[in-house]
Amino acid sequence: MQLLKYLQSQGLGSRKQCQWLIDNDCVEINSALQNNAKSNIEPDDVKTLLIDGEPVTVVPMPYFYILLNKPTDYETSHKPQQYPSVFSLFPDHMRNIEMQAVGRLDADTTGVLLITNDGQFNHRVTSPKHKVAKRYRVTLKHPAGESLCETLKNGVLLHDGNETVRAADAVLENPTTLLMTITEGKYHQVKRMVAAAGNRVGKLHRDRFGSLDTQNLNAGEWKFLSTDEISKNFQQNNTYFGF
Ligand code: URA
Repeated sequence: MQLLKYLQSQGLGSRKQCQWLIDNDCVEINSALQNNAKSNIEPDDVKTLLIDGEPVTVVPMPYFYILLNKPTDYETSHKPQQYPSVFSLFPDHMRNIEMQAVGRLDADTTGVLLITNDGQFNHRVTSPKHKVAKRYRVTLKHPAGESLCETLKNGVLLHDGNETVRAADAVLENPTTLLMTITEGKYHQVKRMVAAAGNRVGKLHRDRFGSLDTQNLNAGEWKFLSTDEISKNFQQNNTYFGF
């Protein structure tokens, strides 16, 4: 990829702005000054990128996969209404790069949220057809017994729906902590299922998406996942998907 295009792909500005950076000796890749807009850059080989002496987060190209431990009071939206956007947690230049969340978490839900620019991967992982498991740690408002798990696993009728929605798994860790796994991603699904089963969600944390957990990231922290990590974690029936 030509240097000029590469800088644009990193969200570093328009064609004109990136050309200016190159012409003014502001671009260093792997400690070497880059002053030719037509130089060939292998994205995988870029280890460090400095703009005007300042290190910039290098975004893997052409596709990247981010694991964010979503904090509470952030919206999974590019156009948030009430709270800041989860995308505001990334460095400035990354906000110029097109990226989408893989499904949504409510503003008050915390935990594993994937973000990518790979539309095909996003579509496959969120399609109910692929039954990707999402596990939630639910803090219940009222102490519950085994019957809550049975109700959720047998299926509940959501108020505005005419189909029964089942939990793929539901286990009580203690009377007010439920571990619940679902394979669809309907609007407010966990909260609505728990309400339909006669209880209420106090707090909601997604601790697993596929087989990915928060990988010891604190709330608000994120990391890039390699394509290998993505393949490994979204393997189903011995077939990889997403690539
Ligand atoms: N179910 C919900 O109710 N909220 C979420 O954020 C995710 C699943």
